[in-house]
Amino acid sequence: MNKVLISSVGVLAALLFIGIASVQTAIAADMEGIKSNNHDWAGSYPHQYGTWKKTSESDEITDLLKEKPQLAILWAGYGFSKDYNAPRGHFYALQSNQNTLRTGAPVDAQTGPMPTACWTCKSPDVPRMIQQDGELEFFTGKWAKYGHEIANSIGCADCHDSKTTELTVGRPSLQRGLESAGLDMQKVSETEMRSLVCAQCHVEYYFKKTDWKDAAGNAQVANVVTLPWANGMTVEGMESYYDTIEFKDWTHKISKTPMLKAQHPGYEIFLSGIHAQNGVNCADCHMPTIKVEGETITDHQIKGTLDQMMSTCLNCHDESPEQFKQILTRKLERKEQLMEITMNNLAKAHLEAGEAWRLGATEPEMAEILSDIRHGQWRWDYSIASHGSFYHAPEETLRILGIANDAAQSARIKLAKVLAKHGGIGYVAPDFSTKEKAQTLAEVPLQALVDEKLVFKKGLLKEWEQDAIKRGILDPETRKGMSDNTAYKK
Ligand code: HEC
Ligand code: HEC
Ligand code: HEC
Ligand code: HEC
Repeated sequence: MNKVLISSVGVLAALLFIGIASVQTAIAADMEGIKSNNHDWAGSYPHQYGTWKKTSESDEITDLLKEKPQLAILWAGYGFSKDYNAPRGHFYALQSNQNTLRTGAPVDAQTGPMPTACWTCKSPDVPRMIQQDGELEFFTGKWAKYGHEIANSIGCADCHDSKTTELTVGRPSLQRGLESAGLDMQKVSETEMRSLVCAQCHVEYYFKKTDWKDAAGNAQVANVVTLPWANGMTVEGMESYYDTIEFKDWTHKISKTPMLKAQHPGYEIFLSGIHAQNGVNCADCHMPTIKVEGETITDHQIKGTLDQMMSTCLNCHDESPEQFKQILTRKLERKEQLMEITMNNLAKAHLEAGEAWRLGATEPEMAEILSDIRHGQWRWDYSIASHGSFYHAPEETLRILGIANDAAQSARIKLAKVLAKHGGIGYVAPDFSTKEKAQTLAEVPLQALVDEKLVFKKGLLKEWEQDAIKRGILDPETRKGMSDNTAYKK
């Protein structure tokens, strides 16, 4: 370890949370004239634009339902059991959202399963539309309402003020979230902004139902993206927040549990790790400083794997690349092992609960069991849903997984008794070892979903793109060379 470097980042860490008055930044920036068209920035900042565009190199689809079939059981009755892939580059964020079976196949602005909120972390057109229409109008209605407006994938205006290019947070959800956690938004340091721009999206959130009246006096209901941080940013704090308001994302199709879906609490879990505590921020690892044609810039090709980031790690760590990789690989294997055990126990708990209901178990008999499943799955999901969590906070990830597994086991012990009482002694949960088997158990009508999606892609989706180009919201140049991979296309 480089001792000088560590002590200097230590000082930064100390300053970070006190806040430094002299480096107040444009957190509540003037979002007037948001330049959401990414190509508009290319002329002034060719190297940042060029490296940003390279996030398009990460375009491969990894079908996680295939790799971890348990997932389709864990999410039965919820969109994620239909289609769920590993994250790709920011260049593809919008396309991933349009292509996923989860967003369905709307035929006009009023149809489709998802609310407008599902655009929130995909595009710089989102802060633009929030500014134009107001936040409550933006969060009212179906996803398809803004299909023709949300045209650029995550880009410059998501992280930069369009006038000053200072780092900025244009999403009100994060500003409110931080305030609810007791942070003073007027005193955020420049260093902290190198994580907060990411925390606009890489955080836990839910859609808060909010009643309001539009200009014509009509009653409306908005689904407002809200960060559940009022009781703290830990897994326990957010769980108590959700439990207190008796929130559920959905009712599990097999076990009937009122479930929570962790989104991607990447920022929160990162804060609990050794790097955050030493003042290291997201951009330090994911956006290192590089030289392009003699100019020193921030690398905007945000990368997603350890291999891609190895040289950055070795700026601060002393081991040889081989040694370092070996240590990390072994650490990762330990987490994978515990994660697999936890997922299997949770999936079996759902199926065993389903059987108990079928045999006539009563609500009082099931109440504690469902509470165990709810909390166990929330913890498992929280610990891994942000993907890089293991690198961001290894101990916290393992701790939460351990508790998640304990809750799943506790549910299963209670289930064994309930099953026995109702004549289900020796019940063995059915095989869910492939995506097909698991989706069948979860009753996912895959072929029908794919068929209607393909119709949507050829029709309405194309119209949205043409419309956005015609109105100058999207420059077709930005999308040149874009692949169109999905998990379902044959
Ligand atoms: C506007 C929302 C948003 C912002 C801001 C944002 N991200 Fe992302 N990020 C996403 C989404 C959505 C994906 C998944 C894209 C996909 O799968 O198509 C993603 C994917 C990623 C990936 C995976 C890339 C790959 O190739 O596998 C990494 C790493 C990442 N983000 C890091 C960051 C960091 C670091 C920051 C801040 C400097 C940041 N993100 C800011 C929304 C955002
Ligand atoms: C996910 C967030 C994110 C996105 C998207 C993003 N930037 Fe940046 N940008 C950063 C961060 C972080 C820095 C480093 C700022 C610092 O520490 O002072 C930065 C720095 C810069 C700088 C200052 C010079 C440098 O290279 O350090 C410029 C200019 C810039 N970005 C332009 C752009 C342009 C143009 C785009 C779109 C093509 C873009 N950025 C997209 C986060 C982002
Ligand atoms: C800006 C400097 C910096 C960068 C870049 C950096 N680290 Fe670290 N890392 C630290 C500091 C500081 C510590 C804490 C050292 C300590 O207290 O012993 C640390 C600790 C660690 C630890 C031990 C933590 C634990 O809980 O076991 C691991 C593993 C680690 N880093 C991996 C990585 C990886 C992987 C990368 C690249 C993706 C990376 N680091 C990049 C500064 C950095
Ligand atoms: C110490 C270096 C380091 C810091 C700091 C760091 N990350 Fe990471 N991050 C990594 C590594 C290494 C991986 C790759 C894990 C892997 O290979 O699976 C990763 C993975 C990710 C991924 C998943 C990528 C994928 O394709 O699965 C996202 C998203 C992400 N990080 C976002 C963030 C955000 C947001 C922050 C700040 C809150 C952050 N990271 C801070 C090292 C870091």
